[in-house]
Amino acid sequence: MNTKLVNMEHLSVVEVLQKIATEYGNRAAFSTSLSWEDQVITHHIFSNDLPIRVFTLDTGRLFPETYGVFNRTLDRYKKKIEVFSPKHEGVEKMVTEKGPLSFYVSLENRKECCFIRKVEPLNRALNNVDCWITGLRAEHSENRKDMSMTEIDDQRNIVKVHPIFNWSFEQVKNEIKEFNIPYNSLHDKGFVSIGCQPCTRAVQEGEDFRAGRWWWENSDKKECGLHS
Ligand code: ADX
Ligand code: SF4
Repeated sequence: MNTKLVNMEHLSVVEVLQKIATEYGNRAAFSTSLSWEDQVITHHIFSNDLPIRVFTLDTGRLFPETYGVFNRTLDRYKKKIEVFSPKHEGVEKMVTEKGPLSFYVSLENRKECCFIRKVEPLNRALNNVDCWITGLRAEHSENRKDMSMTEIDDQRNIVKVHPIFNWSFEQVKNEIKEFNIPYNSLHDKGFVSIGCQPCTRAVQEGEDFRAGRWWWENSDKKECGLHS
């Protein structure tokens, strides 16, 4: 573990990002799903002209509203967001053999789709990266409460930092308002955690933060493999 990145809990999000930029420069990369949380981090990277790379995984199944906020972010900051798409051979084979909605049929199929559309492109995105930044928060799920703000990704042997890990949802929303940060319009329609269109729905009052993700699966450890 890079000792300079330990105990950053007391720092502001900008201070955390500045520290990472100083340590890693363009060998640090932020993965954005264009969620509310991720837009906060993108805002501070771009507004402070930090050398941290910003990339997104375009699964090919995202909501039109997600592409909308992607475009508004490019317009606002005039900076580059790198796009990683799934390899066409894998997608073509899977959809030809199993159809376009295979993920509803079994957990195995769902994980296969997440692997082809998200995890494999992520692996390519993280080539030449020593520090991976995400918008994960502890509040997201029981599973994520067990993580910490700075971790080692054992599989890839790189540092993983979640700069707003301890933030509440209120804090995220306030930051969006304060800096007038562009956000996904689905957030105004009951969508909280947003992923691919066929695998995300709005949540009802009182439901968990991630209840709208893969809602047909019965587990409190629902993850797509990006963070396991
Ligand atoms: S997921 O694993 O269930 O899809 P979630 O939507 O909660 O993840 O997002 C957590 C973090 O994972 C985000 O802050 C972002 O860093 C990363 N992430 C998730 N989806 C994507 C994506 N499509 N592109 C880039 N990063 C993503
Ligand atoms: Fe496929 Fe759904 Fe996973 Fe997106 S979230 S990669 S559509 S299974």
